[in-house]
Amino acid sequence: MIRMISAGESHGKGLNVIIDGFPAGLTIDVDFINAELKRRQQGYGRGKRMQIEADEVEILSGVRNGKTIGSPISLWIKNRDYANWQGRMNVGKLEVDNPVTAPRPGHADLAGIQKYALDDVRNVLERASARETAARVAAGAILKLFLTEFGIELSSRTISIGNIEMTEKSRSAEDTEKSPLRCADPEQEKAMMKLIDEAIEKGDTLGGVSEIRAGGLCPGLGSYAQWDTRLDTKIAAAMMSIPSVKGVTIGERDISKKPGSMAQDEIFYNDKDGFIRSSNYAGGIEGGMTNGNDIVVNIEVKPLPSLRSPLKSADIRTGEAVDAQKERADVCVVPAAGVVAEAMLALTLANALTEKFGSDTIEDIKANYKQYTERVCKTSS
Ligand SMILES: Cc1cc2nc3c(=O)[nH]c(=O)nc-3n(C[C@H](O)[C@H](O)[C@H](O)COP(=O)(O)O)c2cc1C
Repeated sequence: MIRMISAGESHGKGLNVIIDGFPAGLTIDVDFINAELKRRQQGYGRGKRMQIEADEVEILSGVRNGKTIGSPISLWIKNRDYANWQGRMNVGKLEVDNPVTAPRPGHADLAGIQKYALDDVRNVLERASARETAARVAAGAILKLFLTEFGIELSSRTISIGNIEMTEKSRSAEDTEKSPLRCADPEQEKAMMKLIDEAIEKGDTLGGVSEIRAGGLCPGLGSYAQWDTRLDTKIAAAMMSIPSVKGVTIGERDISKKPGSMAQDEIFYNDKDGFIRSSNYAGGIEGGMTNGNDIVVNIEVKPLPSLRSPLKSADIRTGEAVDAQKERADVCVVPAAGVVAEAMLALTLANALTEKFGSDTIEDIKANYKQYTERVCKTSS
């Protein structure tokens, strides 16, 4: 099993992520990892911090002569702003002891201090912060490089911000990627940006929906046999692990409103392609397994809890009514959440693939994959 585990605080020295159980023999492209980190930092509505800090990865272990060697891969992303926080984030005695005592509604703050008997909300918010998702994206880049070896490509785009939804999908994938909100509809994107400007003006925040896709999959990853072997179980869990994600759908978002006759993907056959479907309501998964179509996942991102015009809170020492803590924060992170979701989907698919085809070396996995796909193609034609 490929496992990913991270450590690090939002304003500490940096983030550390370990990928364990990763196959040997994959060529690592550091520029690609950094490009993925940059994608996570972009998107209209991000906070000032994204302008201060351009994330860059350093590989500490598990890669030699440009290739993975089967050992745990350890990555390090420095927090460039640490110099300004050292006094407050020291591992030793703090030089500036300025405890946060006004927990933010909607964040981990209050339940976190109650759970760990803490008297400074900063001890919670530093780790609960979505800064941690930079670690996931760095690891996810390596998992994406692995999936590319099997022709599997991932992408994401913004479907809605607040109550404004994309209608026309007129932009190419390339232009969508370059657009301010990574949205395929230029007109609706303008309206979304206006909504974000209004939220900035009011000191408010916005949520939305991002769609994540994976293409180039063979049928049969995952299993229908047990609740916890279904691939959709794993995808949903991976998506729900992203801070601020409150809902996940796979396939057609409005499927529950359709009659059964209009909600399934009819099966056809021809000699050239074998078994095919002319639609993809299922979003690439039937019975907990890939069916060979693109996996299509939508995530619902809630409006962010750190508000410049703060909500009501109560002081953790006195219970006195106060304004919630103000942190330097984003206004809208839907495009960034899409990039994090790509990383989480990459981890889930890399695990499904290695579970089925082995996990020691890229060459062994490829040989098993070739044998399987040839057999599946044979039964199709
Ligand atoms: C990429 C990304 C950036 C985020 N940035 C912020 C932020 O600047 N301010 C904030 O309050 N929440 C932000 N969040 C969301 C919080 O981390 C999240 O709401 C919080 O940890 C509580 O978790 P929950 O919403 O899943 O319950 C961000 C989420 C993501 C995915």
